[in-house]
Amino acid sequence: MRTAILTPSARKMGQGRSVPAINGFADAERLARRRLPKALFDSIASGAGQELTLRRNVEAFGDVEFRPRAAIRHSSYDLSSRILGHDVATPIMIAPTGSNRMFRQEGEPALATAAGKLGAVYVTSCLTGYPLADTMAQAQAPVFFNLYTIGGRAVTEAMIDAAQRAGCEALVLTMDMMATHGVEKPQAAGDRSAIGRNLATALSYMPQLVTKLGWTLDFMRDGMRFDCPMWVKPDGKVASFGDVIQAFGGGDTCATWDDLPWIRGRWQGPIVMKGVLRADDARRAVDAGFDAIVVSNHAARNVDGSPVPISVLPGIVDAVGQDLEVYVDGGIRRGSDVIKALAIGARAVLIGRAYLYAFAGAGEPGVRRIFEVFHAEMLATLRSLGRASVRELDRTDIALPGRWRTEEPTSKSAKERI
Ligand SMILES: Cc1cc2nc3c(=O)[nH]c(=O)nc-3n(C[C@H](O)[C@H](O)[C@H](O)COP(=O)(O)O)c2cc1C
Repeated sequence: MRTAILTPSARKMGQGRSVPAINGFADAERLARRRLPKALFDSIASGAGQELTLRRNVEAFGDVEFRPRAAIRHSSYDLSSRILGHDVATPIMIAPTGSNRMFRQEGEPALATAAGKLGAVYVTSCLTGYPLADTMAQAQAPVFFNLYTIGGRAVTEAMIDAAQRAGCEALVLTMDMMATHGVEKPQAAGDRSAIGRNLATALSYMPQLVTKLGWTLDFMRDGMRFDCPMWVKPDGKVASFGDVIQAFGGGDTCATWDDLPWIRGRWQGPIVMKGVLRADDARRAVDAGFDAIVVSNHAARNVDGSPVPISVLPGIVDAVGQDLEVYVDGGIRRGSDVIKALAIGARAVLIGRAYLYAFAGAGEPGVRRIFEVFHAEMLATLRSLGRASVRELDRTDIALPGRWRTEEPTSKSAKERI
């Protein structure tokens, strides 16, 4: 499929409504900050520890330079891509983020609607606020299912089966959440995501809630939901987000290499490993039979001091070649960042905070608008590079910092140095 993405069109995006006032990431962030109670905004914005990695995730894109070609004009420009055999209109996927219903009460079904209109892959988290069937009822483009092994084997199997029945096209296993160091910044505002724990904690946030009446009224109209319907506990009750937060503290919420035969035996379809930061893990993913990997440091929320995905991407792409598809996320804030990742060798990218802020602040039209803004810059960048399609991009389009290309030490050579 060859789909030309049009430059921003207010009429197309607005569909009768006014176009969200989003001309870039900063606008989306501003709208989210304006609408959300502080603790909820911080639960999106924050990273682990001192947030060194969080900042570096974004800044590292500035270390990659383009190498524009002069005086080349093409008759058309193409952003379409092919992801796990699906022809899609954009190489940008919607990354899995839990508890979307809390940020915007239309929740996951609205994100599926946005993705369908965009022709983009939507990776829905298993930690959703709506049942998967509601989300899939809106799906017009491929939906991938993001899995944690939360709640134990029986719950995980039920979630895999539900995703299979619902028609999800791939399973995205998050394999980097062995621990989360926790977030220091929001202490002043309260515990991260505590609003979603139960009504009593929500009430303790009253000062924040009254200053964000729009969100608060939406939340009340939606029945003040704290539940996570994909996770049904042994007593038959649906888990709450309090249960989710508690489970993450326990450190056994994501699959290990040893779990793969079990999961592979249950799921018929492609499997993606999310959370790769090392070339040797990427090779191991090839050997384990994964169809794709996501180079990711989980929004810089796990370990402060983790490498930045875009800086380890060249070594990982070189290590796996064409053996599987490589995607990357973390710190992507604009269309030119997407082009840089594709030029390094990623097949596609995922965005997290960029769409989540747009969604929290402006709903489903906001998500489409931020994609439109990204697409406009991608097209302009392609023109400057003399490229007609994102599929033509390669490393001759960019200059990488020299140190990004250095080989990772193997365990053996690292030992030899000591
Ligand atoms: C609020 C929030 C919730 C997230 N929830 C999940 C999740 O449920 N599963 C997962 O694999 N990653 C999750 N992530 C990580 C994203 O999938 C993605 O890797 C990350 O947001 C990309 O970085 P960016 O936000 O800088 O674009 C979450 C990130 C945020 C900010």
